[in-house]
Amino acid sequence: MIIILLGPPGAGKGTQAKDLAQRLKVPHLSTGDLLRQNVKENTQLGKLAKQFMEKGDLVPDNLVTGMFVEQIKSADFKNGFILDGYPRNLAQAKTLDEILKQRKGRLYVIYLDTCEAIIIQRLSGRRICSACGANYHLKNMPPKRDMLCDKCDGELIQRTDDREETIKNRLAVYLKSTASLIDYYERQKKLYRISGNDEAEIVLNKIINLVSAEDK
Ligand code: AP5
Repeated sequence: MIIILLGPPGAGKGTQAKDLAQRLKVPHLSTGDLLRQNVKENTQLGKLAKQFMEKGDLVPDNLVTGMFVEQIKSADFKNGFILDGYPRNLAQAKTLDEILKQRKGRLYVIYLDTCEAIIIQRLSGRRICSACGANYHLKNMPPKRDMLCDKCDGELIQRTDDREETIKNRLAVYLKSTASLIDYYERQKKLYRISGNDEAEIVLNKIINLVSAEDK
């Protein structure tokens, strides 16, 4: 099975993708995580992507799709996978359609429908581990020890694109470029709406129940 998690910034795509990957035992591919890794390692791609990411703009398609296709080719995705952050616009959705034509497995596009007040609260309180990238929230999912990662003791930091002005731009970019994918996948009868406003565990169970029931 192939699951695309679709939704605005802060809807919980990354949180759900990691938990789903564990529960369903399929890999998780996050274009945001891959890009941040490239920025951290100061690769050529990272240097080019950084300026767009810091402003909250989309990284140009040729850069992202090249990286995405490489990753899909190199990893063991034969039993399916979970996508978080790709596709992000119509051109990327069409590229993905072509890639999926050569693969077996049913496609589920899970749209995490989340209200703006919750998005802002989540993004402004998010902290990530500077070493392993694990995700926390100051109120909703705090670390056990003050500002230290539970998994690797790394220092927790704020993502540079989680500042207030950048959050506003990311939401505008989402509405302009990504939200139209809801209709795109609805027309293909692949779209499933789930409220992203609930607690993470509730959202996770709803997704698992949905894909388990549909897969029977
Ligand atoms: P990306 O990393 O994909 O960012 P995003 O889509 O803006 O999504 P976020 O990571 O902000 O939110 P999320 O929905 O994953 O929420 P999360 O689970 O973290 O992309 C970053 C940038 O990379 C883009 O702006 C762009 O520049 C570039 N990029 C990436 N892909 C691209 C592409 N395909 N094309 C072009 N450019 C691309 O949760 C947020 C917070 O809320 C966390 O603190 C979490 O702990 C908390 N939380 C989550 N769920 C819940 C819940 N149910 N209840 C309470 N708290 C919760």
